[in-house]
Amino acid sequence: MMRYKLFGRGTGLRVSELALGCATFGTRWGYGTEPAEARRVFDTYVEAGGNFIDTADTYQMGQSEELLGEFITHCRDALVLATKFTLGRDPAADPLAVSNNRRSMVRSVEGSLRRLKTDRIDLLWVHMPDGVTCVEEMMRGLDTLVRTGKVLYLGLSNFPAWRVSRAATIAELRGWTPLIGLQVEYSLVERTADRELLPMARALGLGTVGWSPLGGGLLTGKYRRGEEGRATSFARTIHSESDPIKIATVDALLAVADESGVAPAVVSLAWMGARGVIPIVGARTVDQLRGNLLSAGFELCAQHSARLADASAVSLGFPHDMLAEESKFRLRAPNTADQVELPSDPVA
Ligand SMILES: NC(=O)c1ccc[n+]([C@@H]2O[C@H](COP(=O)([O-])OP(=O)(O)OC[C@H]3O[C@@H](n4cnc5c(N)ncnc54)[C@H](OP(=O)(O)O)[C@@H]3O)[C@@H](O)[C@H]2O)c1
Repeated sequence: MMRYKLFGRGTGLRVSELALGCATFGTRWGYGTEPAEARRVFDTYVEAGGNFIDTADTYQMGQSEELLGEFITHCRDALVLATKFTLGRDPAADPLAVSNNRRSMVRSVEGSLRRLKTDRIDLLWVHMPDGVTCVEEMMRGLDTLVRTGKVLYLGLSNFPAWRVSRAATIAELRGWTPLIGLQVEYSLVERTADRELLPMARALGLGTVGWSPLGGGLLTGKYRRGEEGRATSFARTIHSESDPIKIATVDALLAVADESGVAPAVVSLAWMGARGVIPIVGARTVDQLRGNLLSAGFELCAQHSARLADASAVSLGFPHDMLAEESKFRLRAPNTADQVELPSDPVA
């Protein structure tokens, strides 16, 4: 059964524990989901209690938003509709189409509203840094969009932690609309966000969603079973068993799934949700979605969680490794370890 979580500290915005990724809605990229199947995927997600939709102006060159504009008409008010800008609907269109500057964000939002057939975007993500626009320009422009009522909440996707932290701080000190969300790639085969991004999100109270939660399909275990998918049909998937950690991770995942009596995808999504990252589920077919929805409400036992965490862990590197060592010895005040309650969230 679908559960709901508050997204972003202090917002009161309740989102379902699984978000729906809509990058595959449409076929303008040469691969994806035909409109009729995309509608079934959407309806099945909503009927299961899902309310958190993830799309972007650039997905299928605008077709994802166009299809959603048709699908959402009967349930718009029950959804948290999130889209993104940076890359433009058609990146080849003109030099102004790809950017995070104020002009591009306004133009992109107006296009998204038209395609989505709605008068507001509930959560607007900056899709990625454009390598040029500074955070002051971006955050001031986003604040204006919120003040016009076209956008309600703001988040950053694919930004390094130091830039998110700076953007959040500038907005806070200048009284601009705060960031509430962070979007990162995260899964059992991509855990480098554990180093800086996720502790930052917890400290700053940012709701966090993770893209490619199944590593593009690897964490369904289907390639070990010799089945078809992105890796075979497009010769390209986000992750493959390219190093010993990923091989050990898939080994552990298949063992845990077998012992738990559920599919590997269910285990992967539940593991991620339990770490405070809402998976953006990307299903190409309604059958895949139905399978993945079984992770809603599913909880792994502590032993299984620890086994998966151990197999998939990445080195945190400097300064975290050094500080972990120091805290065992010099950073702990003498005779206080048992009396002092340490904060459960990272200290900002
Ligand atoms: N912010 C960003 O930059 C960014 C980047 C990427 C994605 N995203 C968001 O994240 C969403 C999800 O990303 P993703 O599609 O890469 O996620 P994913 O869950 O890692 O991969 C989804 C793919 O895995 C396969 N699959 C899924 N469930 C399956 C099942 N039960 N059994 C067998 N195969 C299954 C399908 O591909 P095949 O059947 O073709 O193998 C499906 O298209 C996107 O739709 C988008 O909204 C955001």
